[in-house]
Amino acid sequence: MQMDINKQINIAANLIKEGKIVAFPTETVYGLGANALNAAAVAKIFELKQRPSFDPLIVHIDDISSIENIAYVNNPKIYDIAKKFWPGPLTIILPKKNIIPDIVTSGLPTVGIRIPNNHIALELIKKSGCPIAAPSANKFGKISPTRAIHVKKYFSDVDFIIDGGKTTVGIESTIIKINDDGFEILRFGVITENDLSQILPKSSKKTENIIQASGMMKSHYSPNKKFYLLSEDLLSRIDKSSAGLISFTGKYNDGFKKVIQCSQNNNILEYAINIFDAMHQMEDSDVELIVAEPVEEIGIGKAIMDRLKKAAYQHK
Ligand code: TXA
Ligand code: MG
Repeated sequence: MQMDINKQINIAANLIKEGKIVAFPTETVYGLGANALNAAAVAKIFELKQRPSFDPLIVHIDDISSIENIAYVNNPKIYDIAKKFWPGPLTIILPKKNIIPDIVTSGLPTVGIRIPNNHIALELIKKSGCPIAAPSANKFGKISPTRAIHVKKYFSDVDFIIDGGKTTVGIESTIIKINDDGFEILRFGVITENDLSQILPKSSKKTENIIQASGMMKSHYSPNKKFYLLSEDLLSRIDKSSAGLISFTGKYNDGFKKVIQCSQNNNILEYAINIFDAMHQMEDSDVELIVAEPVEEIGIGKAIMDRLKKAAYQHK
C-alpha cells in the first residue's frame, strides 16, 4: 500500500533539509530536487543525472514574494507575467542574486525560476523552507518522467521518491527571458507565444545560444529504441507489424503491432499530456521501433514537435 501523501511530503522535506536528493511531482514532469542554496546537495543532482555541468537547473519557489530572495526583478512587467501564469508551467530567467550558488546556474549570471502548479510540490517547498533546484528526473538525454515509476526506472539510488500519480501537463515548462522590448521564448511548452502576448509583446531580439542546455540541444528525450517521426516515406520503408505507433489523429493506426492513442478527439493538449508517457510505454514494450505522429508546429504543437524532433534526431 502506498504511504499517505502528507507523510511522504514530510519525509521528503526532512531529507531536503539534510542536503539529500528527492524526486517529486510537478504539473509538468517529475523533478529531482535539492536545496537550491546548498551547493554540495546540488552537485549530487548533476552526478546522479549524469548531467553536464554546463546545463543549468531551474529553481522552484512556492510564492511570488520569494522571487526577490534569489533574483533581481529588473522589469515590473515580470510581476504581471508571474501573477498571470504562476503557479504554472512557466520558467522565467532573471539576473541571479549571490545567494544562489554558481553550480545551480552553471556559472551563468541568471537563474531560471518557477512556481509549479502542483500542491505536493508546493507543500514540499514550503516544508523544506528553501527554494528547490530541480531538473527533470531522468538521466541526461533520456525520456522525461511523468510518473513515479519512470523515475524509479532511472534512479534506484535516489534518497526518496514522492509518488504523486501522473503529471497533468506532461511536458516541461515554457522558458522565457524578458528583454527590454518584450519576452523571448527559450523552450516551448503549453504556455504559448499567444498566451504570453496577452501580457507582453514578443521581443524582436534573439539571444545567442550561450549555453548548450538540454532544452536547446538537438538530441534529447530519447528512448532506448529507434524512434522516428511518421511520414509516407517512412511507412513505405518499415515493417509495421513490429513497430509501435504513438498516435494523435488515429488515421494511421492500422497494421502497427502496438498503438497508443494519445488523444481521443484531436486535442493537442491531451497529446502533450500523454506524449512522454507513451514514449516510456513503448520503450518498455516489445516493439522494435517507435513511430510518432507529427503535428502542425503552431501553439502547443510547437512544444510537442520540439520534443519529438529531439527524440528522433539521432535516428534520422
Ligand atoms: O517543467 C520543468 O521546467 C521541469 C520541472 C521539474 O520543473 N524542469 C525541467 O528542468 O525541465 P530541466 O533541467 O530538464 O531543464 C532545464 C532547462 C535547461 O536545460 C536550460 O535549457 C534552461 O532550463 N535553463 C535553466 N536555467 C537557465 C538560465 N539561467 N538561462 C537559460 N536557460 C536556462
Ligand atoms: Mg530535462
